[in-house]
Amino acid sequence: MTLYDTTMPDDKPADGQPAPAGLKPWGETKVVGTRAPRIDAYERVSGAAIYTQDISLPGMLHAAILRCPHPHANVRRMDLSKAKNMPGVRAILTHESPSADLPWFFGDKGPMSKLFDPHCRYEGDEVAAVAADSPHRAWDALKAITVEYEELPFVSEIEEAMKEGAPPVHEGGNRGRVRTSERGDIAKGFAEADVVLEETYRTSCELHTPMETHASVAQWDGSRLTVWDSTQGVFDVQKTLAQYFGLPSSSVRVIGHYMGGGFGSKLELGKYTVITALLARDTALPVKICLSREETFLCVGNRPANIMQLKAGVKNDGTISALHLVNVGSGGAYPAGSGVGYLVQDLYLCRNVKVEETNVFINAGTARAMRAPGFPQCAWALEQMMDALASKIGMDPVEFRLKNVPAYSQTRNNTPFTTTGLKECLTEGARVFGWKEAKATIRREGTIRRGVGVAAGMWGWEGSTVSTAIVKLFADGSANLNIGASDIGTGTKTVMAMVVAEELGVPLERIQVENADTATTSFAPSSGGSQTVVANSPAVRKAAVEVRTRLLELAAEELKCTVADLSLNDGAIQTLTAPARTVPLHELQSLAQREMLVGVGHRDPHPQGKIPLPFAAQFAEVEVNTRTGETRIVKFVAAHDSGRMMNRLTFENQVFGGIAMGIGFGTSERRILDAGQTGKMVNANWHDYKIPTAVDVPPEHTCISVDPHDTECNNTGTKGLGEPATIPTAAAIANAIFDATGIRVTQAPVTPMQLLALLAGQEKGGRQ
Ligand code: MOS
Repeated sequence: MTLYDTTMPDDKPADGQPAPAGLKPWGETKVVGTRAPRIDAYERVSGAAIYTQDISLPGMLHAAILRCPHPHANVRRMDLSKAKNMPGVRAILTHESPSADLPWFFGDKGPMSKLFDPHCRYEGDEVAAVAADSPHRAWDALKAITVEYEELPFVSEIEEAMKEGAPPVHEGGNRGRVRTSERGDIAKGFAEADVVLEETYRTSCELHTPMETHASVAQWDGSRLTVWDSTQGVFDVQKTLAQYFGLPSSSVRVIGHYMGGGFGSKLELGKYTVITALLARDTALPVKICLSREETFLCVGNRPANIMQLKAGVKNDGTISALHLVNVGSGGAYPAGSGVGYLVQDLYLCRNVKVEETNVFINAGTARAMRAPGFPQCAWALEQMMDALASKIGMDPVEFRLKNVPAYSQTRNNTPFTTTGLKECLTEGARVFGWKEAKATIRREGTIRRGVGVAAGMWGWEGSTVSTAIVKLFADGSANLNIGASDIGTGTKTVMAMVVAEELGVPLERIQVENADTATTSFAPSSGGSQTVVANSPAVRKAAVEVRTRLLELAAEELKCTVADLSLNDGAIQTLTAPARTVPLHELQSLAQREMLVGVGHRDPHPQGKIPLPFAAQFAEVEVNTRTGETRIVKFVAAHDSGRMMNRLTFENQVFGGIAMGIGFGTSERRILDAGQTGKMVNANWHDYKIPTAVDVPPEHTCISVDPHDTECNNTGTKGLGEPATIPTAAAIANAIFDATGIRVTQAPVTPMQLLALLAGQEKGGRQ
């Protein structure tokens, strides 16, 4: 793997330009931007790091949840007597338990559920919960609970659910929220077009299956609740738990030091956490729950399936004159959302755009935020359409995209972007990939056919600005960073420590990070929406700058010089003027007398009248085996404008992880429901649900950081990265498959079975 950095040709030096509230992004950096290994790498790989699943407390009980085995059923009667009398069983909760009679919400407005809803609308819906002395006793007790279900007619597919007379998932029918938005006049836009294309693109339901399954440990101390949770946002979980239990926030402590992946499925409080806290209160003992792998497949959320009809009009000169997207998706059994429209509205210049979106209920597990919710689906449609349009007007797909790069956000009254690196992502990506040469020379004949494809993307949210960081400098010259953010595996702790190291000149190994504990750390928004670095690093920098400023003032006084005469490097103060002196921080008397310097930094607001968003372009080369239908991704280039690259290693990790997830979405991952038969999920395990493995990811890949030196976005010059990394991947692969075979695969994932059938059809019908 290689990594390549580029600077936009028209970039200006960072120094001397205004940024919010005075603190300008760095020019040259010493620590930020280097290949710094994670500060907690040893703990993570050695097993010393304590994840929620590792927590063990004296007297701790173990909880397990009984889940509805049917796609749609009413709980008629339950017999708990046998389970209650089993050894080690301490408490059981059902919908009849008064303490558990709590409402439950799913994203959008619409039908609500309950913590235990006796009307079960999907396989995996919570029916009862047990706390016992050991996990095995809890699971055995679940088996001893007899439930009489009234099985109800169910519906598993979007199109079936929309038909007249389909079994209703909710009383109001199967159509949930409808959203329409329009700008310009699409009829006029299509009339002006030289080419109009229309295609229906479909994506499958992709499931959340993070390495660490969802887990919580709850412990009460009088009316104070402490919860260890595998979560992306301890403050969000704290707030919601406080509401559920009618407690002041100060009485709820949520701790999430380590967590093994979330991708959106751990963005909010889960039912299992409330259940665990209830069981802990009932038994007056700590209770732990770890969901099983199968449970994560059934009920912790997913990227919903979508059916996207996209109509596009283009002029021969490459102007996009109209886009019309009609999306029908299913967020599952509850209004969890299935919207996708953003990219159609904002990625390319187009005056006339209409987007109509409908969420449809089916009897299946609900959607949840999943790495760029809606965006990879929309890219699957839009970026394949862009490819098809380019081919129709005889323009290179890279050139066609370049012609339509926006400098402002069309979804926000044409507010200018702080920077738009999309052009450079496309041009640098194409150059490094060898796009033109590949287009001209690749072999598209024979059994093994090669092809290349490009796709672009952007992320549509600038992130929260509510974040406070605290930096403490000890008299021995070591530092502590206190920040509320969860490190969801992205390297947040490391990147934030690098910001402190940059400002204080303290080596990384002398910085300890205290994070994600509502009782001991300051507020940070949830680590999601690609906002973690963007929301927190400016606050961290301000806290570090405050300490630095005070430290230099003290040092100047002590060393009898001016602040301008001093610099701070490698844990020491250096005088820049004669006599040259180097004073290690631990020898600084004024610091020793104070024992500690503390700096508090608050994130500044976003710039006024500008919008900071990240952009991306990805390039794939594939090899399609026309005998087996298998696709191998042989080469991949990802070019990302996420503002400043904070750490080369974590940048690579994010981009490559995003590509891997995109490959799964595009080529192998899908929830398979036994539609029309049992309605149950038939591949709720890691054997039959195919996530990419080491042999499925490209052996040759390059991650390019396009740094536009954004001086306006915030004081660290950063834009989001985690989500953009996965947005264009599947579409780039689909476009490469088209280039190789002439087959436009509109249904994701492109499995060998599907491709083989399409290839067979092509043989009969000729090249499409
Ligand atoms: Mo994300 S899908 O906001 O974790």
